Amino acid sequence: MMNESDSLTAYGELAAGISEILYTETQLQYRVREIGRAISHDYAGLTPLLVGVLKGVVPFMADLLRAITIPVQVDYMAISSYSAEARDRGVVRVEKDIEIPLGGRHILFVEDVIDTGLTLNYLLRTLRAHEPASLHVCTLFDKPRRRLIPIPLKYKGFDLPDRFVVGYGLDCRELYRNLPFVGMLKPEVFQPNG
Ligand code: IMP
Ligand code: MG
Repeated sequence: MMNESDSLTAYGELAAGISEILYTETQLQYRVREIGRAISHDYAGLTPLLVGVLKGVVPFMADLLRAITIPVQVDYMAISSYSAEARDRGVVRVEKDIEIPLGGRHILFVEDVIDTGLTLNYLLRTLRAHEPASLHVCTLFDKPRRRLIPIPLKYKGFDLPDRFVVGYGLDCRELYRNLPFVGMLKPEVFQPNG
């Protein structure tokens, strides 16, 4: 795998917007494999159903799935906000729902980053209504200082500072998702997601 300066060079134009690499590709891959091993152990015999929200979770989900060595299924939801006011309460419109029935299943909700936790809290409530056998959360990144609603995390990759980061699925205006590492954007490049 590439070292930090090789990574930045390889992603020339994109990497020009990055001020600092927070987690290298090697660090991310190592931690994802550890989480995959833990899930394989904890869910042995249960065929868990991993559920993710498009699109940020896709690189993490793809690597996590391949780090899991037991039978596992995956499904995705897509959501959008009704309005800024609804978003402040975490209420979202489900644009694409989960297709696999959840009743009686062991659900692991997989997230890229948990920030305020408002949206996730809302989604967990809607999933609970389907009466799964269990429902837990696995997040690669956590911004604990931004949390408005407590969310128990069964698996967590890393804590993040209260800063906007990109890469490994995380975007700024739909860019940077393809970086294999996670970094901080230069202030002059940062534009809030619209
Ligand atoms: P919340 O937990 O309901 O506030 O929403 C978390 C969502 O905000 C994540 O799923 C991301 O889509 C987005 N998000 C939060 N922090 C970042 C970041 O640092 N970079 C990119 N997206 C972020
Ligand atoms: Mg997300």
